[in-house]
Amino acid sequence: MNDKMYENPIVQGNINRLASLGYLFMEPDTGLMACGTNGKGRFPSPEAIVDYVKGILSKKSDYEGLRILVTAGPTREPIDPVRYISNHSSGKMGYAVAKAALERGAFVKLVTGPVNITPPSGAEVVCVTSAIDMYNEVMKSYESFDVLVMVAAVADYRCASVSESKIKKSGDRFTVELVKNPDIAAELGKVKGDRVLVGFSAETDNLLENAALKLASKNMDMIVANDVTVEGAGFGVDTNIVKFIKRDGSSIDLPIMSKEDVAHRILDEVLSIGKG
Ligand code: CTP
Repeated sequence: MNDKMYENPIVQGNINRLASLGYLFMEPDTGLMACGTNGKGRFPSPEAIVDYVKGILSKKSDYEGLRILVTAGPTREPIDPVRYISNHSSGKMGYAVAKAALERGAFVKLVTGPVNITPPSGAEVVCVTSAIDMYNEVMKSYESFDVLVMVAAVADYRCASVSESKIKKSGDRFTVELVKNPDIAAELGKVKGDRVLVGFSAETDNLLENAALKLASKNMDMIVANDVTVEGAGFGVDTNIVKFIKRDGSSIDLPIMSKEDVAHRILDEVLSIGKG
């Protein structure tokens, strides 16, 4: 298209007629066009078209009035001032849940371990480092939330004592004594009342058995299980392949999809649990 064609009254009249019947229009881009002139008429980039369509499709407001608390990312357990124990969690899945809930109108609090991605705008973001920090932050605020989604890869153990100065290299072996961290999801399971509690279960073996055990032992309403050894699932990548297992024993197998789409499917299920 060219700016003269776009602004032609017949074209504009046709656009207006279609718009009055409910058709949606994406404005052309402005810039250098194929005919060599500058103006409004450029075909938008495929990314812009996809974002436009996604924006329309995701314009649900079914979380308006709901408050959702999400944990995300890894935790870091210090050994000394320069070393820590952690894991490969990128935070992408948790951030996707937070973003999807915001898009659907929820108030979102994101309690996040150290990651390299930008939090979605509009969320209340609290950055934490260790499992104890994350536990304290979640336990002090969970009461005012309706939905609790525990996506963080919380370290199960921390060092029994953290050295105040850098530990110097000495013998051929070095032993660190670890003690158990609080289990945030399990603690929430004890006090959650009628809040919906969703957990994740990243496994390398016996996916369904392990996930079902966690669901029951932590009193969750639903667990999102994924085998992190499968290509396209797990840490760092933009996609995930998950199964939902619910408290009533029912399960849903999802195909490979983007973490954003998985997040929206989780939110769909949470609403059906809340209404159940
Ligand atoms: N979780 C948590 N606090 C912990 C450990 C886990 O809140 N200290 C939560 C995770 O956020 C996740 C669920 O519990 O939602 C399951 O976490 P996972 O690490 O898969 O399981 P664990 O119970 O730690 O068991 P294991 O490491 O033996 O598989």
